[in-house]
Amino acid sequence: MPVISMISPKGGAGKTTTAVILATELAASYTVTILDADPNQPVKQWADLGMQKPNLKVVPGVNQDNITDEVEAASAESVFVIIDVEGSASLTAAYAVGMSDFVLVPTQGSILDARQATKALKVIRDAGRLSGKAKPHAVVLTRTNPAIKTKNLTHVARQLNEAGVPVLRTELNEREAFRSVFAYGGGLSDLDPKEVANLDKAKINAEKLTAEIVGHIKEVMAK
Ligand SMILES: Nc1ncnc2c1ncn2[C@@H]1O[C@H](COP(=O)(O)OP(=O)(O)O)[C@@H](O)[C@H]1O
Ligand SMILES: [Mg+2]
Repeated sequence: MPVISMISPKGGAGKTTTAVILATELAASYTVTILDADPNQPVKQWADLGMQKPNLKVVPGVNQDNITDEVEAASAESVFVIIDVEGSASLTAAYAVGMSDFVLVPTQGSILDARQATKALKVIRDAGRLSGKAKPHAVVLTRTNPAIKTKNLTHVARQLNEAGVPVLRTELNEREAFRSVFAYGGGLSDLDPKEVANLDKAKINAEKLTAEIVGHIKEVMAK
């Protein structure tokens, strides 16, 4: 039932990667539908590689004309619904945010990226105003270096904190495994540890991130 959407104005911020990693992790325990609302259809392309789990469904071709119907249909049949959106300045993005229980704003850890993210945060704030209820959301810092915390990243996290923007404790690190999923299809558990460097570390990262997101969603749904 909970609907989670990924929005951020920047291409390359890690929206599709976060959506697919989260979906495949959740699909180990729950039924999940991913709505592919990006005109470039990156989630559909990933799904077409095969290796799909029985309880993970991908709905391609979601756009501003059908998104509200598709979200309703998906929430009736799946425990989790994840929407991958391109950018933030579209009616599709506004509808996705409006219909979500929790919105994730994937953002790379540079100040330029964080500034861009404010556009997504505005869309989220406006959706809250329209519905008369603040829209639960958080920035997830993506593609971060697992070995060192750069000054840039610390600075970005501090600025977001000072601006009152919730930031997830768990970052999505830069890992080959998170790219490999889009080369081979399936999720992290379908990859071969002999072929993908640090797969075990990527798995731990994905599990932690998923657990943190589920924790936030449980809080939201309990209200
Ligand atoms: N955590 C990560 N580790 C490694 N590569 C990543 C990671 N996140 C994203 N990428 C790569 O960065 C590029 C953009 O990511 P993507 O998820 O498509 O961003 P968006 O959907 O926001 O445009 C892709 O080539 C993807 O494989
Ligand atoms: Mg994308």
